[in-house]
Amino acid sequence: MNDRPAVLFVCLGNICRSPLAEAALRTEASRAGVAVTVSSAGTAGWHAGRPADARARAVARRHGVDIDGHRARQVEAADFHRFDHIVALDRENLATLLAARPAVARARVSLLLDHVAGRTGEAVADPYYGPDEGFEITWAEVTAGAQGLVRLLRGE
Ligand code: 4NP
Repeated sequence: MNDRPAVLFVCLGNICRSPLAEAALRTEASRAGVAVTVSSAGTAGWHAGRPADARARAVARRHGVDIDGHRARQVEAADFHRFDHIVALDRENLATLLAARPAVARARVSLLLDHVAGRTGEAVADPYYGPDEGFEITWAEVTAGAQGLVRLLRGE
């Protein structure tokens, strides 16, 4: 891709959690002055080509980020060679990624909250079927994960 580290966030549909994680890492990396290439995808292709969920767009907007240009896509084999880090939002999607990971891959695959002290092994809960307030919890969790990733990218 280029010489910046490249990070791909992966959830199920790529319309709620991973586009928010992508937005949070852009925000935190920019604040910290860390150059990074960020993208997101879903293990499922059901929503491919569609924008993020309106509730995800709204929570991003409330936190100063516009994700209206996002279009969902499904993870593909080439992603394991294009990205340095592929970061799953929950354990099911982590398992799907680990099963799909080629024997020789560039990407290190991890769980987002493993990058947050005290939250190892935890999932970012899926807000899709819940109330709007769930999206604020998602934003807080992906922001904490993004801050941990910024520290990792800085070599701290
Ligand atoms: P996401 O949320 O994985 O955070 O994008 C979901 C989006 C869609 C569905 C489930 C979760 N769905 O079942 O369509």
